[in-house]
Amino acid sequence: MLEAKNIIKTFRSEGVVTHALDTVGITVDPGEFVSIVGRSGSGKTTFLNILSTLLAPDSGEIIYNGEDITSLPPRRLNELRHKDFAVVFQFHYLLPYLSARENVLLPYMKGLGRVPKDARMRADECLERVGLGGKGSKIPGHLSGGEQQRVAIARALVKKSWVLFADEPTGNLDKATGESVMDLLVDLKNDGLSVVMVTHDDEYAARADRTVSMADGRVI
Ligand SMILES: Nc1ncnc2c1ncn2[C@@H]1O[C@H](COP(=O)(O)OP(=O)(O)O)[C@@H](O)[C@H]1O
Ligand SMILES: [Mg+2]
Repeated sequence: MLEAKNIIKTFRSEGVVTHALDTVGITVDPGEFVSIVGRSGSGKTTFLNILSTLLAPDSGEIIYNGEDITSLPPRRLNELRHKDFAVVFQFHYLLPYLSARENVLLPYMKGLGRVPKDARMRADECLERVGLGGKGSKIPGHLSGGEQQRVAIARALVKKSWVLFADEPTGNLDKATGESVMDLLVDLKNDGLSVVMVTHDDEYAARADRTVSMADGRVI
């Protein structure tokens, strides 16, 4: 289980102080799909980034499987992030000069060494899983927006993560393509993956098991 307690985050830039998160918390059970909704500027992205450990809170705790991970040494935090946490953003962040398969394999790549054969097979399995079997050799520029987002999700799956964090994963997609990405997220949840998704679309949010609403840096 993943739990965040009493998270506070304040940004200071050019003399402006923003209380982005004011004592927020959440729990995510194994295999649960939670959506986080709220207006622009309500703190959703900041909260998701802190939950996924991409950003450190000013205070508060993130507890994963009974362990407070906010105070882990950087090396252990990296390991955990690499193994159990997967992240998908509004923009796909695929590398344009790598094929879909190579993009999915990025979590395995360390320096210029060869990627093990079973990793390549696993990448193809994941591409198949997101409906892109046979498109592994295409570069992102030759795929549609929805397909690019699916490659990003396949990259998240390749590690067999415990949880997928998605920040407005349908934000750059038209309605039909957005729906199909939502269908995929629900399928993955039904296979046992925990999902935490930020969206400002109430219809998409309603497809989660539970919705958390935010306003002005607080959970309401
Ligand atoms: N790096 C930053 N520096 C300064 N202010 C920030 C930064 N990131 C977010 N904020 C501010 O924190 C508040 C919450 O932002 P964010 O979490 O991105 O909201 P949302 O994702 O709900 O639109 C906003 O007022 C935003 O301007
Ligand atoms: Mg945001």
